[in-house]
Amino acid sequence: MKVLVVMAHPRRDSLTGQVADAVVSGLADAGHGTELADLYGEGFDPLIFPPDEPDWEDEGKVYSGAVRAEIERLRRNEGIVLVFPIWWWSFPAIMKGWIDRVWNKDVAYGSRALSHRRALAVGLSASDAETYAKRDYDKAIETQIVTGVFEFCGISDGRFAYLHRSTDGGDRPAEMIAEARELGRTFADGL
Ligand SMILES: Cc1cc2nc3c(=O)[nH]c(=O)nc-3n(C[C@H](O)[C@H](O)[C@H](O)COP(=O)(O)O)c2cc1C
Repeated sequence: MKVLVVMAHPRRDSLTGQVADAVVSGLADAGHGTELADLYGEGFDPLIFPPDEPDWEDEGKVYSGAVRAEIERLRRNEGIVLVFPIWWWSFPAIMKGWIDRVWNKDVAYGSRALSHRRALAVGLSASDAETYAKRDYDKAIETQIVTGVFEFCGISDGRFAYLHRSTDGGDRPAEMIAEARELGRTFADGL
């Protein structure tokens, strides 16, 4: 399967970047083709301007060139993995904006849907699982991303994986990288 791995972090050599690389390498171990989209590195502009606003009365709107290129990259892959640090219990703004602009009306919802066979969101978080459960942040984030984005856009097989305690130091970064590689290696299991 061809899988698009999308990462959002201001530093390519961040732990998030290393986790994205580990996902890519696990996918490759399992025989999948990959493309890595480094949203910051590519200078993706997350702001919607009128050319990329949905037109509720026109199913044939032609979006900006930048968005058309992203749609093409999205569609030439059958799987998708989003890798990002959890910022304020959500996506970093650049990834939210990538979804706002690219997963657009009549591309990902409306008259058309996405046809990816599986989608996985990998969120790095400083807090632990108990902190997320205590305030239902885990349910809120998963509902927002797996139900509100993946399922809403036609991807019924959507999952969320947390890599918690990302700022603990010690052995934790190496453990997270190993977990990420395994997430890549097993990404398409059961399909
Ligand atoms: C703006 C900002 C907001 C953050 N919000 C959260 C949060 O809501 N929950 C959480 O567990 N960690 C939060 N963090 C911690 C990040 O998730 C953590 O810095 C990241 O996972 C570490 O990975 P990195 O070294 O690749 O940046 C936040 C960090 C920043 C910079």
